[in-house]
Amino acid sequence: MFLTKEEQEMCDGEYGETIRKSMDILVALGDIYGASGLVDITSAQVSGVSYKTIGDAGLEYLQDLARDGSGKATINASLNPPGTDLDNWEELGFPKDFAIKQNEIVDAYADLGISKTCTCTPYLVGNVPRFRDHVSWSESSAVAYVNSVIGARTNREGGPAALAAAIVGKTPLYGFHLDENRKANLVVNVTTDLKGADFGALGYIIGKVVGGGVPYFKLQNAPNNNNLKTLGAALASSGSVALYHMENITPEYQLAGEEDVEDIMFISDKEIAETRESLTTTDKEIDLVCLGCPHASLEEIKEVASIVQGKTIKNKLWICTSVSVKATADRMGYTKIIESAGGNVVCDTCMVVAPIEDMGFEVIGVNSAKAANYVPSMCGLDVVYDDVENLVKFQ
Ligand code: F3S
Repeated sequence: MFLTKEEQEMCDGEYGETIRKSMDILVALGDIYGASGLVDITSAQVSGVSYKTIGDAGLEYLQDLARDGSGKATINASLNPPGTDLDNWEELGFPKDFAIKQNEIVDAYADLGISKTCTCTPYLVGNVPRFRDHVSWSESSAVAYVNSVIGARTNREGGPAALAAAIVGKTPLYGFHLDENRKANLVVNVTTDLKGADFGALGYIIGKVVGGGVPYFKLQNAPNNNNLKTLGAALASSGSVALYHMENITPEYQLAGEEDVEDIMFISDKEIAETRESLTTTDKEIDLVCLGCPHASLEEIKEVASIVQGKTIKNKLWICTSVSVKATADRMGYTKIIESAGGNVVCDTCMVVAPIEDMGFEVIGVNSAKAANYVPSMCGLDVVYDDVENLVKFQ
């Protein structure tokens, strides 16, 4: 891979150990994938935050990197969800030892210049690249959103690679950074109107079919941004989709080369209904309804508040979101309505990266196909997949 004189000096350690180690990662990746060189980025989103997934080894690696003090992110770089609500972990019943380690991890990232935004929807809270910007994002649903809905360019980076890119301000130029790899290779004709959890079901079906490919959707009804984030998360969890196009909706659909695609699929209400059903793993009662995968927008919190207003919830209810979105929900009175009904607006974490299996829950109700896909494998718990209004039960 071609390196400029300055980049070579970074590799040689002339800018300090943190930058040298970061360049090692970027150059190795670039060499593996045949990148022509490095490209400047405007934004990073760094995963690998939960103590549940990175453990003590990850914490030590980050503290080591931060201790050197020679490199910090210089671009807009934000952190993915950790395993706890960083401020209210005690009140919500998170294990203390876990919470202490979790805070140490987030502090180490902050020392490396990664903001404690702690969300998989950074595009809702100020980390919003421009169309065609090169970026380095690593959480898979966020990658699908930023590539598809915003039209910025990233590969599905691993956490260490996104961190390295944030510190150096560059990423290897290959894959989805290049026009030729952003073409569609499957056309999906949806023959029925979709709403709510149908979008997750659609993403789950197509992710399995297309793997790491680029689907091009033709829908009967126009989705909103919440539907698009749900769809992208599902595509990225049952497959490894990093980019999709949607006719008349996403910014690059006219460049996707849909007219040359030979693979065409039709999805009817029958497939959507069967998939919705297949994502539920039990007929037992739900103990925790957990919404906000990907992290909830203000509109989604508002919708939940309107459903539970003036009622008392039977099962527990968490709506996971960023601390920034919750601050506005507090101001709007939505948090108070939800808390008065017995629910919680939970910051930072989510049902997959939190240690919910150690918190006495057995059956989790979700409206996200990504969560339905991961909760059984990552937490060992059963799930019920449905729309919010069917999941929340009242006394
Ligand atoms: Fe976000 Fe957790 Fe879902 S990181 S996309 S809420 S699994």
